[in-house]
Amino acid sequence: MTILVTGARGNVGRRVLERLHAAGHPLRASGRTPAELSVPAGVDTARLDLNGPDTFEAALRGVDKVFLYAESDGAKEFFAAAAEAGVRHVVLLSSSTVGGQDAASDPLAQHHAAVEDALLASALPGTVLRPGAFAGNAFGWSDAIRTGKPVELPYADAHTAPVHEDDIADVAVAALAGEAHLGRTLTLTGPESLTFREQLAVLGELLGREVPVRELTRDEAVERMGRFVPEPVLTSLLSQWAAAVGKPAGTTGTVQDLTGRPGRTFRQWAGENLGAFAAQD
Ligand SMILES: NC(=O)c1ccc[n+]([C@@H]2O[C@H](COP(=O)([O-])OP(=O)(O)OC[C@H]3O[C@@H](n4cnc5c(N)ncnc54)[C@H](OP(=O)(O)O)[C@@H]3O)[C@@H](O)[C@H]2O)c1
Repeated sequence: MTILVTGARGNVGRRVLERLHAAGHPLRASGRTPAELSVPAGVDTARLDLNGPDTFEAALRGVDKVFLYAESDGAKEFFAAAAEAGVRHVVLLSSSTVGGQDAASDPLAQHHAAVEDALLASALPGTVLRPGAFAGNAFGWSDAIRTGKPVELPYADAHTAPVHEDDIADVAVAALAGEAHLGRTLTLTGPESLTFREQLAVLGELLGREVPVRELTRDEAVERMGRFVPEPVLTSLLSQWAAAVGKPAGTTGTVQDLTGRPGRTFRQWAGENLGAFAAQD
């Protein structure tokens, strides 16, 4: 009765792994380079490249549940191999963009939708998690804040409802626990809508100093972010943020429903991670 956790060193995957391990489940942690995985003692590891069908059979042997990252190339083959191995529940980490108004023209949404569709078309029982923006995206501001430079970003007044990665992991573990959530698609948000500027103000308040913000034009953002963000992802993000300026993000009760407690706030996330933003002596 082994649970396979893919992306076991990812922000969400490693949290899922920790929780399942603490609950005593037999586990297999996977990644493309298993030597780079840091797993609790006794946890089995496997090489799994979701784009590489030749790695599927060994990684899935003896597995009955899977926590899965969305990789569209190879998804159909992965679900076929999982069904063959006897898997009876897949919890897929997808994205709220799939349910967005612009999903049909959004490359990020299309990438996740392709995996959702492949899961649906397979014979496998599944639960789809569609989180919105992660609270941890704020780490992208840490270098500027730590060194006292203005945080430069486009669409500073765009709203998101940042969801704490611990809440995504808690929901994933609750979904994996039984059969109550089979066949469901769950959209996850944090408990409140905040603009990027408001998130930065929370960080500044906790740090006890002002965090200056310089708003970039779209062209400036394309020039800077395009150096490290793939073009389809950048296009998707900029369109989402442009549409979210001055428009509070909707929130869902998924975290409360599955865990029995409210979702963690961005302030809580910021407090837990303040060290990454504090100036170093
Ligand atoms: N950030 C957001 O605001 C947001 C919002 C909604 C949805 N999402 C979605 O959430 C996911 C990112 O989650 P995260 O932050 O936890 O990810 P992360 O920390 O960037 O880690 C990604 C994980 O995916 C694994 N992975 C990537 N390609 C793989 C492949 N071909 N085969 C096997 N494993 C592969 C990596 O494993 P190895 O490198 O060890 O192989 C890594 O552990 C993405 O699908 C993203 O679109 C993000």
